[in-house]
Amino acid sequence: MSLTSKPEETPERLAFYAKIDKQAFTPLWAVMSDIITPEPKSGCRAHLWKFDAARAHLMEAGGLITAKEAERRVLILENPGLRGLSKITTSLYAGLQLVMPGEVAPAHRHSQSALRFVLDGSGAHTAVNGERTMMKYGDFVITPPTAWHDHGNQTEAPMIWLDGLDIPIVSHFDASFAEGYGDDEQPVSRETGDSLARYGANMLPVDYKQEKLASPIFNYPYARSREALERMKAQDEWDPCHGLKMRYVNPVDGGHAMPTIAAFLQLLPKGFKSAAYRSTDATIYVCVEGGGRTTIGGEKFEWGPKDIFVAPSWAWVTHEAEGESVLFSYSDRVAQEKLGLFRQDRGNH
Ligand SMILES: [Fe+2]
Repeated sequence: MSLTSKPEETPERLAFYAKIDKQAFTPLWAVMSDIITPEPKSGCRAHLWKFDAARAHLMEAGGLITAKEAERRVLILENPGLRGLSKITTSLYAGLQLVMPGEVAPAHRHSQSALRFVLDGSGAHTAVNGERTMMKYGDFVITPPTAWHDHGNQTEAPMIWLDGLDIPIVSHFDASFAEGYGDDEQPVSRETGDSLARYGANMLPVDYKQEKLASPIFNYPYARSREALERMKAQDEWDPCHGLKMRYVNPVDGGHAMPTIAAFLQLLPKGFKSAAYRSTDATIYVCVEGGGRTTIGGEKFEWGPKDIFVAPSWAWVTHEAEGESVLFSYSDRVAQEKLGLFRQDRGNH
């Protein structure tokens, strides 16, 4: 038996396999090299979606179905190597959601964690547990597991954001529960901005006890995150692999903002060319500002604002920024870290 090759399939062996197959047995030695691999081996492929094309498809969908009828009017970004599985990586989901002026995406809740990253329009709201937040370009909004959430657009323009969910992780564990609230939004019971004031101002309520794994902040405004990057860039210290890369945190315990999805924001200075990097967390990137190209496993992808691309697990990644650029990204790194699986390779850096 070997980890890299299969034993010969003799007629006697094949006959034996066929016989035991009827009683739901399979010989490990015939499949071992497929399931315990020396390195990550994935059907997930590198790919880039241009935002302009996505937006045109979404607007067409806007004429075909209402947000209410669809529950969520979303086009899934399906990995070309994982078609039909509603996945952008093996463990994560991505979709682009459109909410037209005057529309409501009704309240519901589910076991899956979700992030929103706002790409088009400004001022539509997401409500979580009775509080509404107004969403602007680049805002990172989370809806934690089992939290009631809905979306509404009272502005004059369509709103589009990227939805990132852990649907494949929850499906993997057969742990999905979901519930609808009705046809409408949940009632508002807290002031807008309350959670950010309470938990996102370097303070916590004095006797606060952590009850949930997800961050109690549910909107991390881009203006604040961007200002932090701007301040830090003056120091002129750049990680060879990442430029200046920060992760979104849960202020209660310093961990990632969500239990299963890690999210990041990074600044690449003008003309920066990163050193090759690979890691076990397949990663979804969104260009927030600037433009450039990323080479993933030898394949080159050109990106500009709002374009979305995905890098599979263990593929070498290098970024080149033409102008000063900002990338948002998310992955299952937090889940892999908790399970002791996360591994990264910085090359010689
Ligand atoms: Fe949802």
